Amino acid sequence: MKILIIGGGGREHAIAWKLKQSAEQVQLFIAPGNAGTSQLGTNVDLDLNDFTTVKAFCLQESIDMVVVGPEDALVRGIYDYFKKDSELQHIVITGPSAEGAQLEGSKSFAKAFMQRHNIPTAAYREFDATNFDEGVAYLQQHSLPIVLKADGLAAGKGVLICASHEEAISEFSQMIREAKFGASSKKVVVEQFLDGIELSVFICTDGEHYVLLPEAKDYKKIGVGDTGLNTGGMGAVSPVPFATPHFMQKIITRIVNPTVKGLKEEGIDYKGFIFFGLIKVNDEPYVIEYNCRLGDPETEVILLRFKNDLVEVLKAMHEGTLDKIESEISPNAAVTVMAVSGGYPGSYKKGFPIAFNYLNNPMEIKHMDRDGGVVVFHAGTKQADGSVVTSGGRVLSVSSMAPGIAESLELSMEVIEQIHFEGMYYRDDIGNEFVD
Ligand code: AMP
Ligand code: GLY
Repeated sequence: MKILIIGGGGREHAIAWKLKQSAEQVQLFIAPGNAGTSQLGTNVDLDLNDFTTVKAFCLQESIDMVVVGPEDALVRGIYDYFKKDSELQHIVITGPSAEGAQLEGSKSFAKAFMQRHNIPTAAYREFDATNFDEGVAYLQQHSLPIVLKADGLAAGKGVLICASHEEAISEFSQMIREAKFGASSKKVVVEQFLDGIELSVFICTDGEHYVLLPEAKDYKKIGVGDTGLNTGGMGAVSPVPFATPHFMQKIITRIVNPTVKGLKEEGIDYKGFIFFGLIKVNDEPYVIEYNCRLGDPETEVILLRFKNDLVEVLKAMHEGTLDKIESEISPNAAVTVMAVSGGYPGSYKKGFPIAFNYLNNPMEIKHMDRDGGVVVFHAGTKQADGSVVTSGGRVLSVSSMAPGIAESLELSMEVIEQIHFEGMYYRDDIGNEFVD
C-alpha cells in the first residue's frame, strides 16, 4: 500500500507513525514532510496549489491512498478533484469535499448548518459591507465580551474576543472595511460569548457511519498556567477527565449524530475527519467550531490511544463500511508537550541545530507499545548538512502514554529535558490541571 500524506507538521509525523503500524505493508510519501517523516518514508516537494502536480505524482508512484493533514487543500477541493478524475477516483482520499470543508472554511456556513440541525452553539448574527451600520448598532447593545469571527480561513487568527464596545466596533470596522484578515473578514460573525471549559472530539466518517476517536484538550496559550498569547497549540492531553461517559453521550446525541445526519440529508459528500471544537457550559456541550481535519497537536495524543489499524479504518471510510469497525481506545493517558522556538508565536529564528541523541531514531527512546512509552514527533524540523535543524515555531512534539496523566507528563518531561536547541521553550504544565 503506497500512501501520500499531505502536510509537514507534528500531526503528519504522527499520522505517518500510525500508518506504519498497519498490518499491511505500507510505503509512505510525505509532502512536504519534515526531518521526522523522512525516517518513515520519502519526503516529496509537491506544489500543493496545483492539483495536476499531485495527480502526476500519484500516477507516477501508483499511490493507493492520500491522507490530507491541513485544511487548505480540502477547502480548495482536492477531494473533489480526485473524485472527478477517472484516473484518480479509485484512490482512497480523506475528504471532505469542498462543500463539506465549508464547515471549517466558512463560519457563516457552519453556524447556519448548526441552526438548521438544532445543534447547540452560541447565538449569532452576521454582517458585511451591505449591513455594516446595522452591525455597529447591534454591537453597541451587545453584552460583553463580544466574540467577532472572520467568516473565512485566517490561519487560526480570525477570532477576536473584545472586552469593550469600542474595541469591538473598531475591530469590526477593520475586519470589514480594511480587510484585516483579507477576503476572509469581508463577512463577520458576531457571537455570544460562552464561558466554560473546552475540549475537542474527533470522528472519522464515511458520510453515514463514523468511528469515534479519543477526545483531547489542547493548550493554546504560550505561558504556563494558560497565560499570554495564543499559539497553534503548546501541548495536549487525552483522555479529558471531565468528558465522562454521561457527558460524552450528550455530545454524541446532540452534536455528533445530528452533524453526520445533517451532512447526509443535505447531500454533502463527507468522507473524512470531523474535529468538533466544543465548550462545556453548565454541563451542556456547545460547538465553538468545526474543523474538517485532525488537530495539531491533538493528533499527537489521540493516535497513541487509538488502537485500530488506521489503514483499515480509512479503507472502510472510502467503502462506506465504517459501521463494521469497532473503535478500540486505550484506557491509558497520553500527553504531548511542544518544544518551540524562542520568540514563538511572535518572530523567531530558524536553523538552530537540535541536540538529542535519539533524534535519528525516535522510536527507540522508550519503545511505544500498545500501553505506553514515549515518541518524539517532529514539527518544524528539517535536515541540513546531515543534521537536524529547527525550521518552524513549533519544533518537536514529545508524546507519552502511561496509566495516568501525571506519569505521562513526567515521561514527556524526562525526554524533553534531554533535547536542546538555542532558544528552546516548552510548557511543563500540560494536563496538570487534571492531576490531584
Ligand atoms: P475558533 O477559531 O473558532 O476555534 O476560536 C478560537 C478560540 O476562541 C476558541 O478555541 C475559544 O477559546 C475562543 N472562542 C471562540 N468562540 C467563542 C465563544 N463563542 N465564546 C467563548 N470563546 C470563544
Ligand atoms: N490545535 C487546534 C487545531 O489544530 O486547530
